Amino acid sequence: MMRSHCAAVIRASAPELPLLHCNTPARTDVTRSYAIEGRNLNYSITARQGKCTPILKDCSLTIPPGQLWMLLGPNGCGKSTLLKILAGLLNPTNGFVYVKKPNSFVFQNPDHQVVMPTVEADVAFGLSKFNLTRDEIKSRVAKALDAVGMYEYLQRPVQTLSGGQKQRVAIAGALAEACKVLLLDELTTFLDESDQVGVIKAVKSSLGNSEEVTALWVTHRLEELEYADGAVYMEDGRVVMHGDASSVMECIEARKSSYMNKINS
Ligand SMILES: Nc1ncnc2c1ncn2[C@@H]1O[C@H](COP(=O)(O)OP(=O)(O)O)[C@@H](O)[C@H]1O
Ligand SMILES: [Mg+2]
Repeated sequence: MMRSHCAAVIRASAPELPLLHCNTPARTDVTRSYAIEGRNLNYSITARQGKCTPILKDCSLTIPPGQLWMLLGPNGCGKSTLLKILAGLLNPTNGFVYVKKPNSFVFQNPDHQVVMPTVEADVAFGLSKFNLTRDEIKSRVAKALDAVGMYEYLQRPVQTLSGGQKQRVAIAGALAEACKVLLLDELTTFLDESDQVGVIKAVKSSLGNSEEVTALWVTHRLEELEYADGAVYMEDGRVVMHGDASSVMECIEARKSSYMNKINS
């Protein structure tokens, strides 16, 4: 099962303190103004020979609730690593991270997302732990599929879906579980153009249906920025820029043209 619903509070500021994964709602859940918060996050990998390679260098970001933000940057700059730290799938070497719960990480490959034979069964899959009545399950599944524009596919076998439709079913699964934060890692990588637009629009509309859901969408495609409320731009393990989508777009364009000028001269 690749969809992951994760513990969301990790503190790791002092090396002598153990990392804390907190599964009970923190008091700060009520008062925090951000759905996602990372402060001075570092992540290094130590090879067997003892050589330490820094992957993330002092990354900070804050994302307000109810918004769709993009995490952008060239391949290998550390986007997936940062997203996995936010999801609690990796522990930072040091730094502070808070992500509202429950949160859900959706992976890149659509074929790793769906696990049940039909759309309805797949979206209902994660609900068994909630002790709901059949009617409640049906209603949650219908609402979640409606939010991602997939309700008419309720009875469809999952193997007949396109990659983008599978991603939307995976997102519906998270929404059905009342997920508050969606962490989405390069969902459009394996999709054709119309499927890509379908997934991003589904995320946008599912946020529009509920003020409480926040999404962080990892991508290296600049054109996807047009759907975002805000963005974080990374290069070489660092957060270079963080702010509203148009300012980040301008910053990236300026960096690109200065790089091109350097090459040409
Ligand atoms: N487990 C690992 N071992 C060694 N290097 C890794 C590991 N995970 C990630 N990296 C390296 O860290 C950098 C960032 O990777 P990643 O977060 O996947 O980047 P992105 O998602 O932006 O493409 C890359 O150079 C990658 O090769
Ligand atoms: Mg990646």
